[in-house]
Amino acid sequence: MALPAIEAVGLCKRYGARKALDGVSLTVAEGEILALLGPNGAGKTTFLEILEGLRLADEGRARVLGEDPATPRGRRRVQERIGVSLQSTSLFDTLTVAETLELFAALYPRRESAADLMARMGIADRARVRVGELSGGQRQRVVLALALVNRPDLVFLDEPTTGLDPVARRYVWDSIRDIAERGQTIVLTTHYMEEATRLARHVAIMDCGRIVAEGTPEGIVSALGLGVRVRVEAPGLTLAGEAVGVRSAVAGDDGWRIEADRAEPVVEWVFAQAREQGVDIRRLEVERATLEDAFVHLTGRDLA
Ligand SMILES: Nc1ncnc2c1ncn2[C@@H]1O[C@H](COP(=O)(O)OP(=O)(O)O)[C@@H](O)[C@H]1O
Ligand SMILES: [Mg+2]
Repeated sequence: MALPAIEAVGLCKRYGARKALDGVSLTVAEGEILALLGPNGAGKTTFLEILEGLRLADEGRARVLGEDPATPRGRRRVQERIGVSLQSTSLFDTLTVAETLELFAALYPRRESAADLMARMGIADRARVRVGELSGGQRQRVVLALALVNRPDLVFLDEPTTGLDPVARRYVWDSIRDIAERGQTIVLTTHYMEEATRLARHVAIMDCGRIVAEGTPEGIVSALGLGVRVRVEAPGLTLAGEAVGVRSAVAGDDGWRIEADRAEPVVEWVFAQAREQGVDIRRLEVERATLEDAFVHLTGRDLA
């Protein structure tokens, strides 16, 4: 098996009395996208900065691309091979997009061409535009392009779409997928559940310096046994008898709200009853639990 891109074991970090990281262990396979999902203050940036060699952990150890970012030599080697977009990146507003990429590329021996990067990130038509005149989404794609100038094997993206509108966010997602399709490993942080679900098969939910759940989005949800909610709009329907795995069935003004382990037995039950009673089903909706529900379940708080 290939060496993992990242292996972190028991990382702890305190700022004074505050524990920013409280024993974080995590392995990221080569070529995958890991989404670290958690609210503000969860410790996401601290975790990334330790892996990037920008901060030292108080306890624990990490290997990044086989190197130890806590030693000067390891840090140098790690930093040559990673691409980083920080949570807030300052750019020179008066430089054009092309000039910005060329300026940063000049710092590295192994570099990607500015033209290729602009094409890949969908900003080729902005090449001669000053950075200060870009929209938020375009600016963020310049930041992504900058994270790629040194042809990194591993890319860290700290909240790549925070503050963007939904349309711009989707463009940035496309750019992130493009990076992943070329086999570069990606670690991104986000507090948007949808972003984690759409981009990553490997999600780690972080809260208060700890990883509280890890796996595929569906895996995390099903491991918690959160089940499904079935909403039925069918005025006059009464539900007699029972279906397998029903946790609760509450009648409302024009139908039912049913919580259950699985949807199928409930749907069959509802249809059978409606047929027997000659009642029309106007609407039937199955809602599966989401990562957001998982987060609330695990921490008692909302993500945002
Ligand atoms: N340089 C610092 N000095 C003191 N406290 C910090 C510092 N950086 C982060 N913290 C605190 O550590 C915790 C984790 O922060 P951070 O890693 O930035 O979380 P996130 O990126 O998930 O929002 C927060 O409570 C934050 O206030
Ligand atoms: Mg952060």
